[in-house]
Amino acid sequence: MSDLLTIADLGRDGLEAILALSERNDLGRPLAGKGVALVFQKPSARTRNSMEMAVVQLGGHPVYIQKDEVGLGARETAEDVARTLACFHEVVAARVMDHRDLERMAAAIDKPVLNMLSDRSHPLQALADLLTAKQLLGGLENARIAYVGDANNVCHSLAEACSLLGVPLSIAGPQGYGFSDEMEGVRQVADPAEAVQGANIVYTDVWVSMGQDEEAERRRQAFAPYQVTSELMAKGRDAWFLHCLPARRGEEVTDDVMESAKSAVWRQAENRMHTARGALAWMLGARP
Ligand code: CP
Ligand code: NVA
Repeated sequence: MSDLLTIADLGRDGLEAILALSERNDLGRPLAGKGVALVFQKPSARTRNSMEMAVVQLGGHPVYIQKDEVGLGARETAEDVARTLACFHEVVAARVMDHRDLERMAAAIDKPVLNMLSDRSHPLQALADLLTAKQLLGGLENARIAYVGDANNVCHSLAEACSLLGVPLSIAGPQGYGFSDEMEGVRQVADPAEAVQGANIVYTDVWVSMGQDEEAERRRQAFAPYQVTSELMAKGRDAWFLHCLPARRGEEVTDDVMESAKSAVWRQAENRMHTARGALAWMLGARP
């Protein structure tokens, strides 16, 4: 049984295994009679619903836990919350403010811990992103992805996944909003048109992530030149548009791009459920 805190931890084999499992519907009921704790310190539509349905599809019972109920780090330490939930559940999944809380939880228990988004990474999202790209392009061999906007948690996990799988990724964002990790095959540039040139997938996410509200004005100004518009999309190679959602239409992306025939955001959202199922099965020991 394995934790899933970052994409990088999976290695190429683990990542490919989860993507393969995600396209199967014969994974059985490894969670029959068992629970999965879903702790949320931040709001969620896609992650909560995709995880609940994935747990049900694997025969288990999801328990949704809001932040004030367990008071991670406030009412009890991260370790004590994890130990408590491990008494009842086969997997402990959490969406946290601080990635270190996930590491502390994973260190405290033998049951697998799953990252449902942290300040640093969003591995479940990257799994759905890569599965969607693979389906749209008929394989990842010729994929070239441009990410335009904030090099945030979503971007970081996408970059780890692209790097592991050898998919070239160009990230365009303003000075001071990149990340410092060097990853093979990942380049960071300032010009959005340069990033999108030759890309067959263009991806963006919000400029102001959950918990960054006090930086909102400064961020909106810094990212204004990075809006994904039809004009920018036209610089790609008949590119598909992806967004992890929720989108702030009129900020990082225009309405017409979201609604265009090349927008695959709803397929990407649905893939959250299929990849959540694949990831849970893999954590419980399934292999393709
Ligand atoms: N993409 C994503 O994780 O959405 P939620 O925040 O709604 O779960
Ligand atoms: N970067 C966003 C992703 C939401 C799914 C956030 O952290 O709020």
